[in-house]
Amino acid sequence: MRVLLTGHQGYLGTVMAPVLAAAGHDVVGLDTGWFAGNVLGPVPTDPPTLTRDLREVTVADLEGFDAVIHLAALSNDPLGSLAPEITYDINHHASTRLARLSKEAGVGRFLYSSTCSVYGAAGSGLVAEDAELAPFTPYAVSKVRVEADLLDLADDSFTTVSLRNATAFGFSPRLRADIVLNNLVGYALLTGEVLVKSDGTPWRPLVHAADIAEVFTAALEAPAETVQGKALNVGDERNNVTVAEIAEAVASVTGAEVRITGEAGNDPRSYRVDFSLLRRTLPTARVRHSILDGARELVTAYRTHGLTAADFENRFVRLARIRELQEAGALDAGLRAP
Ligand SMILES: NC(=O)c1ccc[n+]([C@@H]2O[C@H](COP(=O)([O-])OP(=O)(O)OC[C@H]3O[C@@H](n4cnc5c(N)ncnc54)[C@H](O)[C@@H]3O)[C@@H](O)[C@H]2O)c1
Repeated sequence: MRVLLTGHQGYLGTVMAPVLAAAGHDVVGLDTGWFAGNVLGPVPTDPPTLTRDLREVTVADLEGFDAVIHLAALSNDPLGSLAPEITYDINHHASTRLARLSKEAGVGRFLYSSTCSVYGAAGSGLVAEDAELAPFTPYAVSKVRVEADLLDLADDSFTTVSLRNATAFGFSPRLRADIVLNNLVGYALLTGEVLVKSDGTPWRPLVHAADIAEVFTAALEAPAETVQGKALNVGDERNNVTVAEIAEAVASVTGAEVRITGEAGNDPRSYRVDFSLLRRTLPTARVRHSILDGARELVTAYRTHGLTAADFENRFVRLARIRELQEAGALDAGLRAP
């Protein structure tokens, strides 16, 4: 299939583009390139690229594609809360507009990268896709809104699927240090301590970036009637863990000491997620990597490629990178190139 992958120069997109290509798809990427040069290790080869802001996409950009996989976003809660109106602008309005224009351009399938953050504080019972949604942040609210808009657009000519990813982990050349496992491993190697700035009790489902890529590929290729209009949690129950358990896994791989500060964190999210619908709907998509697999992989990658404190605190932190672009005058307050 000819596929447009938005956000292909981000953390997940950099892993997903080669997986799609290896499955025989003809991939074109679309990205503003905010993180394109921030790479750990060898520079990846990107697919042909449209350097575009999502907010400027036209129908002409979308013609000739069989499918759009939409990853581009202000991609986490701190970033979303920094500037809620820009988050709604990009993550909600521009995303829904992209879907509408895709349909207009004759694109047949639209895969949307949503999040398990839509469940908010769900306690310790397992939540499935039909659970009540309780998004806390502009980031999570935007995801809920786009999912609803996609259902309005879905019809026989336009298949939409919302893939609610667990929190990702694992190596990507365009690394993120601001997601929990990647963060704890990096901090442990740099300081000798696994630092948990909470009481460690919140539940977090995790999933490896490569497993997300495999699930999206399966959703791209599945018969339309099996996925049409579905929201699917992306992950596996064995990676439903508490933050303290993640810290223990990191300690066992790095030899660093765990320190749990016990402070009340400012992130109220806690949810354990049921992934059985994913297995029933896309039985060929395997979620393979455990948290220990990811921790070992990250230790090797960080050591091999020489992760530094500056990388860890700035180059691979979304918020720090956006601020750097603003200070350099490359982005204005609305996150547009002046
Ligand atoms: N990483 C996770 O843990 C996780 C978990 C659940 C869902 N998701 C979702 O998956 C998607 C990808 O996440 P990621 O971790 O790769 O994020 P990322 O921040 O690493 O990458 C996002 C990419 O989108 C691009 N982008 C942002 N705004 C844009 C705009 N207006 N126009 C064009 N390009 C723009 C950025 O330049 C970047 O390359 C996001 O939608 C995110 O919400 C991620």
